[in-house]
Amino acid sequence: MKLRILSCAFVLAASGMDGVYAEESAAMTDFVRGNGCFSCHSATEKIVGPSFQSISSKYADDKDAVPALVQSIKNGSVGKWSSRVAMPPHQNISNEDLTRLAKWVLSQKT
Ligand code: HEC
Repeated sequence: MKLRILSCAFVLAASGMDGVYAEESAAMTDFVRGNGCFSCHSATEKIVGPSFQSISSKYADDKDAVPALVQSIKNGSVGKWSSRVAMPPHQNISNEDLTRLAKWVLSQKT
């Protein structure tokens, strides 16, 4: 009985979170576009850089993924994705926004 109440509360909480997530996600997509990330990345396909979904699955079990990706986006990255092309640095993006970007990339699931 206790379990049923708990799981019910969980479903409610989860559906509530979905709404918030969808809103945040649409705003974030614009934000990512505004930073020029989509000229080299797409959600699902490799363009110049790996797809955001493959980045998300590669780092799914890495608890240090957010700071690691912040560093990659900020300072650029090369050689991690068997691509001969490097990602240029993005020194103009604030640390707060870099963290938002890294978390958003990690939330891109198949
Ligand atoms: C000029 C093309 C280009 C642009 C613009 C670009 N990227 Fe990349 N990105 C790449 C390439 C190429 C790689 C693979 C680098 C490697 O092999 O280490 C990459 C890798 C990544 C990774 C994985 C890094 C890692 O450590 O595994 C993340 C996260 C990422 N990009 C996010 C972004 C975000 C967010 C933006 C926008 C601010 C962005 N990229 C803009 C080309 C680009």
